[in-house]
Parts: sequence; C-alpha cells; structure tokens
Amino acid sequence: MRFVCYTKDSMKKNTKLYETVAALMAPGKGILAADESDSTAGKRLAMVHLPNEPEHRQDFRELLFTAPGIEEYLSGVILYDSTIRSFTDDGIPFPDVLTAKGMVPGIKVDLGTTDLHGFKGEVVSQGLDNLAERFAEYYDLGARFAKWRAVITIDDEETPTDAAITMNALLLTRYAQLAQAAGIVPMVEPEVIYAGDHSLARAEQVTTRTLQILFQTLMTYRVDLEGLILKSSMVLAGDMHPEQSSPEEIANATIRTFHMSVPYDVGGIVFLSGGQTPKRSTENLNAIAKLGEQPWPITFSYSRAIEEPVLMTWQGRPENVPEAQKTLLYVSKMNSLASQGKYDPALDKKLK
Ligand code: 13P
Repeated sequence: MRFVCYTKDSMKKNTKLYETVAALMAPGKGILAADESDSTAGKRLAMVHLPNEPEHRQDFRELLFTAPGIEEYLSGVILYDSTIRSFTDDGIPFPDVLTAKGMVPGIKVDLGTTDLHGFKGEVVSQGLDNLAERFAEYYDLGARFAKWRAVITIDDEETPTDAAITMNALLLTRYAQLAQAAGIVPMVEPEVIYAGDHSLARAEQVTTRTLQILFQTLMTYRVDLEGLILKSSMVLAGDMHPEQSSPEEIANATIRTFHMSVPYDVGGIVFLSGGQTPKRSTENLNAIAKLGEQPWPITFSYSRAIEEPVLMTWQGRPENVPEAQKTLLYVSKMNSLASQGKYDPALDKKLK
C-alpha cells in the first residue's frame, strides 16, 4: 500500500512550524538527543562512575552545549524538563546557549511508559495531562520542537498488537495536535525496539505497520505533516538474532519501509540510534544516504551513539572537557558526513 500525499489545503498556514522544520533539517546537520530523564542520565553517569547528582548532569550537558563549533554539525538539541531549566556555570540558561549558536532547543514531553492493561509486555506513553499548559511554558523557555516517544516491542507473532500500536498512535496524534497549536514542531517517535531475536523481515513488517497506523491517525486528526518530523528506528534484525544484516540490507529495508508508510509531505525523518554502537549507527546512516535523494530530508538524532564516546573521553574530569568536546565534534562530523553518504568507515579509526 502506498499513501496518497496529503494535499496542500487551506489549513497550511503554519509558516513558523515550517521554518523550524527547515532549520532542524538543514543539510549536513543532525539533532542531538540530550533528553534523558534524570534517572536515565544517572545510568550514563554510572558508566564513568559518577553519582547521579544534578551538578554532574549539568556539567555533562554544559560540556555538550558549549562545545566550540558544534553548531556546524548540529541543528538542534532535545532537552529534558530539568535541563531546559538549567544554566551554565556562568548563569546562562541552556536554551539561550543553544539559540545563541543558531541551534533550535527542543523538549521531550512524554513522561515515560506504563503497562497497557490486558496486553502482556505492551506499553503506552504518558504525559497528555496539562500538556497544553506545559507547551506554553516550554515555548516561553525557548523550545520550538518537542519529542514524544512511544515504545513498540517485537516479541512473538502476536506482539506488537494492532491495539497497542493504535493506542500509541492516538496518543502521539493528540500530543502532535497540541504541539502544533502551541507553535511547536512535533517530533513523533514510535521506537521499534532493537533488543530481541526477531529477523530483519519481521522488523520491517512491524515498522511498516506501526508507521502506517500512525500516519493514518495523524491524517485523520488533521495534523499538518509538513510541520512535523518523524523520529524512527532504523529497520534492524534484533540484537540477539543470529543473522546480522549488512548496512546495505538495513538501508534498503528502512527506505522500503518509509516508502510504504510515510506520506511524502512529512517535514523530515531523523533516526534514533537505539542501542547500536556508534560506528554501526554511522555506517547504517551512510548506507541509507547512499541510496540517494528521498522525498523527505533524512538525518540523525542520536543520544547514546553520540554521547557515549564523549562520556568516555570526559570521565567526569574537568581537565578532560576540551578533549571531550573534540570527541563530540568528531562524532557529530562523522554523522554529518554519513547523512550525506560521504562517510568512509575505512578512514575512521576512532568510532567503535
Ligand atoms: P538513542 O539514540 O540512544 O536511541 O536515543 C534517541 C532517543 O531520542 C530515544 O528516545
């Protein structure tokens, strides 16, 4: 099934949203997801044996956002509620640091997942309560785009169910409506989880189904697709599957999936890294870009695949900040090249 494009109609007057989408999807740039909840940020800090204290979280984020020249490769950064309210040591609010460098501040607005009663192992995301008020405040704090993550897990033949996908699609749609009404670009993220023993073909089937249901729902509720960004998983065999696919196989499956499910007027598509190593995330993005121009601009929006090499260089030591910032620049540059199909893994001795 191929979607008929959503026609340009009289609703299409969201110029500000389109400007934000254009800024975020600027060629050769990607979006950093620095939006871990405080508890997930603690897991990252634990990798370098730091306790989960606000000052350590702030130090790491300050290192990222103030890295000299990073705006050459990053068009935007997704923040978390406590991060959008944080300041540098010099007292500059984080969103202002980003805006001053020409990067667009974003905000994660879902409040994590909860069980979908009656559907073993399936979850829905929370956070619609008071979301209009939260959007108004986030807008005042500088946010111009917002992410909502839904989690789709592949298990047996019955999981995920259409019921769980549909419920998540409705929640994503309601949040996207509220975001656009507030002048904020929704970045809808139905993450098909990489962990598992499923095949590449099963991942393709589930991702296609998920995106078809999501975009049907978004269109039913008249969300302006041109003023929206899809944040997607790459189509990957599960990490426990015996046959791991080549970047070319992954690229073909991913682009085939999008052509079967993503209307052509969607403003852009960005990828999460999903637990792949930094090198594989970059190689796979490169293979996707090498397939040539698509109806949508496509780039990266990684968290772990960018932050982990930076954390490892930093180790929580102030004297390592300049070197860690150089690592951030390097990883971002490699992904910038990959988003243009110009990354050469043979020349890259650093990413692992
Ligand atoms: P990863 O790149 O670590 O998967 O994170 C991206 C993201 O935004 C997950 O919600």
